[in-house]
Amino acid sequence: MAPPTTTTASSDDLATDILAALDKSSQPLLSSDAFPSATFVDLKAALDRLASREMVKYDTIERQEALLEPEAEQIAANGSHEARVFEALRKAVEGLSVKELEEAIGDKNVVKIGQGKAFKEKWISKTKDGKFTAVADNITDTTQEQIKIVQQTKTHPDAKILADLKKRKLIRTQNIFSFKIHKGPKFALKIPEEATDLTADMIASGAWKTATFKPYNFKALGATQNGGALHPLNKVRQELRNIFFEMGFEEMPTDKFVESGFWNFDALFVPQQHPARDLQDTFYISDPKAADFPRGESSDDTKDYQAYWDNVKAVHQDGKYGSIGYRYPWSGDESLRLVLRTHTTAISANMLHKLAATKGPDGRPTPARYFSIDRVFRNETVDATHLAEFHQVEGVIADYGLTLGGLMEFMEIFFGKMGLHDLQFKPAYNPYTEPSMEIFAYHKGLGKLVEIGNSGMFRAEMLESMGLPKDMRVFGWGLSLERPTMIKYGISNIRELLGHKVDLEFVQGSPAVLLGEEDK
Ligand code: PHE
Repeated sequence: MAPPTTTTASSDDLATDILAALDKSSQPLLSSDAFPSATFVDLKAALDRLASREMVKYDTIERQEALLEPEAEQIAANGSHEARVFEALRKAVEGLSVKELEEAIGDKNVVKIGQGKAFKEKWISKTKDGKFTAVADNITDTTQEQIKIVQQTKTHPDAKILADLKKRKLIRTQNIFSFKIHKGPKFALKIPEEATDLTADMIASGAWKTATFKPYNFKALGATQNGGALHPLNKVRQELRNIFFEMGFEEMPTDKFVESGFWNFDALFVPQQHPARDLQDTFYISDPKAADFPRGESSDDTKDYQAYWDNVKAVHQDGKYGSIGYRYPWSGDESLRLVLRTHTTAISANMLHKLAATKGPDGRPTPARYFSIDRVFRNETVDATHLAEFHQVEGVIADYGLTLGGLMEFMEIFFGKMGLHDLQFKPAYNPYTEPSMEIFAYHKGLGKLVEIGNSGMFRAEMLESMGLPKDMRVFGWGLSLERPTMIKYGISNIRELLGHKVDLEFVQGSPAVLLGEEDK
């Protein structure tokens, strides 16, 4: 089957008309004369079609055309204002007052402008009793002459005059494109029948030898292509990943949204009565109902996980590692309930538990730096700044002898790479960190301090349950990916950034980001 052609019947007709007109004329054709009613686009399409077959050649000509403004039309018909004033006075036997002059001409405006100019030209003067009178014998109305030339030729041979008339707002100019069309080497009266495709039949019959093939149109723009575009959150995420990587962090495997209560809460020393574990705050999974922890992961892990499980129970219920615990009956079933993870700290806990099993040269767990950027879920009422799901950026540093001062210093460096400086720290509370600090930075655009993250040093109750040595300390901090992205792109409503209300044009048109660049 032949591919569809884009040529319409009207451009077909126009192409044939052009060929017929060229055939009759001994001169090249000027399209504005030969086809005054055809549009530029139609003409160009028809000409390109003929030119690609070498049936015609054409050049594009641009010229300026001058057109009369209404006032100039009046001058062309009745004379310039000054000439009309002179003429009226010449006809009057005696001088005329302004009023009489206005009556004679019938246009106040013509009198107002005309008498001033006629004075300048010394065509008229004033009598002792304040009347106007003609003094010249005869005059030449140059303005009218000039305008009449423009009216007839759409230009004026004297460029200075043309410019002057334009300045006086008597004429306007517009650019006119037209085509100068010549016969081409393959000129004919009709476009030959053309094949659009080389077919098996043509090869078999030998018809291809004499067939005329439709030329390729290399000037065709083609259909607009909808390329893919990265979502702004992905762009900012990539920038943040680069910051983590250049600071020696390893990315945590966050590719699961469902966690047990154990990893999301209990491992983090979040008591089972904590309000964050309420239905109002957390999405629970109804099917399957429970996780198969601690036997599920891998059979040789089982013993370790069982010991860990027992430690977590003990530290919550009775206290351990020097902590008095929360002193409530800890429920294993509660721990096995499945949740949509409320923070990526669930993964951090899992990673730290694995870290506890590593052995460095000195036989102790090796220091580590982990990060993740992934989705978390909270049962929130959706508004301009809250969604039920968002992305969390999280970092964890485990090492011996870390101090709170070290955490603050590290935050300055980390957030500095995002363009945020002069941080402020505010004491805060997390069940799993002590001390805990909210991090604030001055936002130039908003002109105030904004909260940019949450941080702390993980508690002994959490770390020692996993089997990490007493002197291994762990920093942790988290922030949302949405907050810096919204600031970066100037978005005030989170629903414009994430969810079903996102405008695809916003996604496609958003520029790349370089965090921290403008502050360097
Ligand atoms: N999980 C915390 C949050 O959801 C972030 C955090 C991670 C805080 C690690 C301290 C340590 O805000």
